[in-house]
Amino acid sequence: MFKLAQAMLFLLPAETAHYFTMNLLKVCHQLGLIRNTTRPLNRHNVRGLGDDLWFNNRVGLAAGFDKNAHYVEVLHALGFAAIEVGTVTPRGQAGNPKPRLFRLKRDKALINRLGFNNEGVDAMERRLMYLRGKQASNHSLPVIGINIGKNKSTPNEQAAEDYVYCLERLHAYGDYFVVNVSSPNTPGLRALQGKDSLVELLTKLQEVNKAKGPKPLLLKVAPDLTDEALLEAAAVVTELQCTGMVLTNTTVSREGLVTSSHSVDAIGNGGLSGEPLALRSGEVLALIRKAYPDMTLVSVGGINSKEEGQKRLDLGADFLQVYTGFVYGGPRLIKRLKEL
Ligand SMILES: Cc1cc2nc3c(=O)[nH]c(=O)nc-3n(C[C@H](O)[C@H](O)[C@H](O)COP(=O)(O)O)c2cc1C
Repeated sequence: MFKLAQAMLFLLPAETAHYFTMNLLKVCHQLGLIRNTTRPLNRHNVRGLGDDLWFNNRVGLAAGFDKNAHYVEVLHALGFAAIEVGTVTPRGQAGNPKPRLFRLKRDKALINRLGFNNEGVDAMERRLMYLRGKQASNHSLPVIGINIGKNKSTPNEQAAEDYVYCLERLHAYGDYFVVNVSSPNTPGLRALQGKDSLVELLTKLQEVNKAKGPKPLLLKVAPDLTDEALLEAAAVVTELQCTGMVLTNTTVSREGLVTSSHSVDAIGNGGLSGEPLALRSGEVLALIRKAYPDMTLVSVGGINSKEEGQKRLDLGADFLQVYTGFVYGGPRLIKRLKEL
């Protein structure tokens, strides 16, 4: 059934298929046609993410899938213990021209250059306020992470102001926050991963975070950084008493693909996600875990089976996230990962 539905959906352009599917699932959920499968198997805490925060399993949805928190409830019903909404930027922005999301079916991969298309902080605040209101009257919600970024038009010298603004406005609504300086689709963004920029950015964010009553703050990094740069970023995270890291964002590398280089070249720029990212994502996890045995580490990138999920846990991940694996594997993947 899933395979048939997927074959039909894959006839549509990737971004159209995404919104079509999610809007359909949302309506089905509202009509009571999708039952909540998120009954806790093994309710547990995730190191560093707070003693009072209970996760129903160890798999969450990675950032970028539900950029505007439109689908939190149906995604929770499908089994995710946590949803990381965003990346949200202070002002809404359209992102890059379409087409900007491409399937590499033979590689079980995607290339995207969406460019932080999102409705902005005001819309996100309204939606999360509504969801938290429902939760207060005993409605079940997943753990909600908020992934924050900067507007394309904001120069890097003022980037910290954008991140601080997002954190200030949304602090009350997130269970944890992720600082995204690693998308390849906003020009110059990845330069913010340099040591001096990171110290400045995370210092300012921690000031606000501490003043408001600290919530877990994690840094999301690119797999394309050298090992040295990754360790340097981890050192800054520790020094500034941030909670941990999300490892990793998409890659700009095109190595090891089965898809012909002609087709890949025709797609053009963007971040590659899915199976081809698994190896590097696992390596980055092992690298940071070895150097920082106590840091909270969320592993994401190419997790598309229970075996791969187990491998990441064995490498020291505290929590798992998926995006592309969910596009190709559907709810069945979540069902398998929930058993970990
Ligand atoms: C279409 C698409 C959009 C994404 N948007 C974001 C985003 O807005 N913010 C972010 O931090 N990561 C974003 N990501 C990266 C994912 O969160 C994840 O780190 C990456 O895809 C690797 O995981 P995967 O191999 O399971 O997809 C996006 C990924 C995809 C495929």
